[in-house]
Amino acid sequence: MGTALPAFTPVQDSLFLTLCGRALDSRAERPILADVMADQILHKIGFDPATLPFAAKGMRDIALRAKKLDEVVERFVARHPNAVVLDLGAGLDSRFFRVDPPSTVDWYDIDFPEVVAVRHQVVPARDNVHTIGASLTDPHWLDGVPTDRPAVIVADGLVAFLAQDAFVSLLNRLTGHFPGGELAFNAYTRFHVWVLKRYSGTASLADVVANPGFDDPHEPQRWDPRLTLVEEILLTRAPEVADYPTALRVWTRLAAHSTALSRRGTAVLRYSF
Ligand SMILES: C[S@@+](CC[C@H](N)C(=O)[O-])C[C@H]1O[C@@H](n2cnc3c(N)ncnc32)[C@H](O)[C@@H]1O
Repeated sequence: MGTALPAFTPVQDSLFLTLCGRALDSRAERPILADVMADQILHKIGFDPATLPFAAKGMRDIALRAKKLDEVVERFVARHPNAVVLDLGAGLDSRFFRVDPPSTVDWYDIDFPEVVAVRHQVVPARDNVHTIGASLTDPHWLDGVPTDRPAVIVADGLVAFLAQDAFVSLLNRLTGHFPGGELAFNAYTRFHVWVLKRYSGTASLADVVANPGFDDPHEPQRWDPRLTLVEEILLTRAPEVADYPTALRVWTRLAAHSTALSRRGTAVLRYSF
């Protein structure tokens, strides 16, 4: 306890949803991500997850999509030990500690300056971890990031907050900056955006969800021709669903038979460039 939090904007406040999701998962009998540091950070900032209306499914989806994004980074770094890792809209996520990459990797966590200031107080520092306090819509935030190394870029819970033109500019800036790499993020379909604005647990975000969402995972290839869709990871089909509580597991396994229904749940999209 004890870290004083500045007044966050509603967009910045969204980091508590994902942080609490991972922390609650770590307390579950059969955790998916087992991110104990998320719970430690919650404790340091004195945030009570009971203040958020969490459904069991929401908590597991947050933990599982984080795990899938971790795996994208782990696989890339195993192939490219000199990689640069970018975590866009990192919030108070401690992905670096879950992935635990070699010291040859340079890792960048990017979020608004107010969020990065809190990160510095509650997430342990490491020599090869850098933070950038900026809006991702600022055309200069990438200026200090090496241009000559392969990059793996992840964004967990970010895209909904980027207006479409800002998202497209960001994609093009990222793929133009590095010689090559991978980009992965959890997708927001138009259905997700509709739900985000109406579901009681996320209704506070109604005014700040800026992205319209997209249904075809190939669409980003049209916005940035350097991108190629490599993988659509539908969480309904993840092996970890075996550890869901019975009713949720049965429902999820049924939904897994349909790609359309599965896309109504969470998908992680992975592109190469
Ligand atoms: C739902 S939270 C997810 C945080 C973190 N990735 C996680 O999984 O816990 C979304 C994050 O994106 C950040 N964000 C949204 N728009 C941003 C922008 N334009 N520039 C930088 N960060 C942004 C917010 O401040 C917030 O921390």
